[in-house]
Amino acid sequence: MTADVLHFRQSQTQRLARFGVNASVDMHCHCLPGIDDGPPTLADAITLCRALVEDGITAVIATPHQLGPYEDVKASGIRAAVAALQTQLAALGIPLTIACGAEIRADERLLHLLAAGELLTLGDGHAYALIELPHSTMLDLRSMIDALVAQGITPIISHPERHGPISRDVQLLAPWIQRGAILQVTAASLTGVFGPIVKRSAWELMNAGWVSLVASDAHDVAARGPSMTAAIEAIAATTGHALARRVCLQHPQAVLEGKPLVRPRVAMVQRRGRS
Ligand SMILES: [Fe+2]
Repeated sequence: MTADVLHFRQSQTQRLARFGVNASVDMHCHCLPGIDDGPPTLADAITLCRALVEDGITAVIATPHQLGPYEDVKASGIRAAVAALQTQLAALGIPLTIACGAEIRADERLLHLLAAGELLTLGDGHAYALIELPHSTMLDLRSMIDALVAQGITPIISHPERHGPISRDVQLLAPWIQRGAILQVTAASLTGVFGPIVKRSAWELMNAGWVSLVASDAHDVAARGPSMTAAIEAIAATTGHALARRVCLQHPQAVLEGKPLVRPRVAMVQRRGRS
C-alpha cells in the first residue's frame, strides 16, 4: 500500500502539515500479532494499529525481537506476518503502512546471521540494523559496530537510556557513536513513564545532541502504548521545533527509506544533578 491511496485521519494530516513532511514513521514498534511480546492476537494488533493512527503515525516499521529470548523469530515469519497484517489493515480501511524490520539482541552470532539473511534490517533495506543490549549487562559493542559499518549498515542502539549501566553513565555511549552507531530513544522515556533515572538519561542524551531517533517501541495500548505525540510536544517545547522534526519525523523516514541522516557530534555530556 502506498501513501497516495491511503485516506489519512485528522491526527495524521495535522502532524504532516505542522512539520511539512509527507510521512510520520514509527521506526521501532512491536505491532505484529503472536510473534514476540507484542499483541498476542490479530484483534490486539489491529487495536494497536488504530492507536498508532490516532497518535498521528502514517507508517510503522514492525520490529519484533530476534535472538535473545526470541530465537525462533525468523525473517521469513516476520515478512509473512507483515504482509498478513497489511492485508487486514487494507480490508479495514486503516491508513497505516507496515514495513519489515527487527530489534536484534546483541549476540556474537549477529554478523553471521545477518549475512545469512536470517536477521532483518530496518525496512529490509540493509542500511540500518536495530540492536538491543541485554537489559542490565554491559557489552563491548565496538567490534560489532565496526563490522556493521564496514558492510554499509548503520547500527542503531535501541533505547540506551533504559539500560541500567548506561542510564547511570551515558558517557559509555561515546565510543560507539564515534565509531558510527546512532541512538534511538523511546518516546515514553522522555515523558517519565519509565521513571526519573531513565527520563533524566533520555534528556541528557537529547540535550547533548546524541539522539538521532525517537520511536514508540509500543507493544500494546496500555502500559506500552503509542506516545509519539507526547514526546514530540515535549521535545518541541524543550529543545525546539527543528529538533523534534528531525528526530521524530525526518530521521525515522530516512531510516525507512535507507537514506543517510545527520550524524551526531560527540562531546562530553553535561550532567545536571541527580533526581
Ligand atoms: Fe522494542
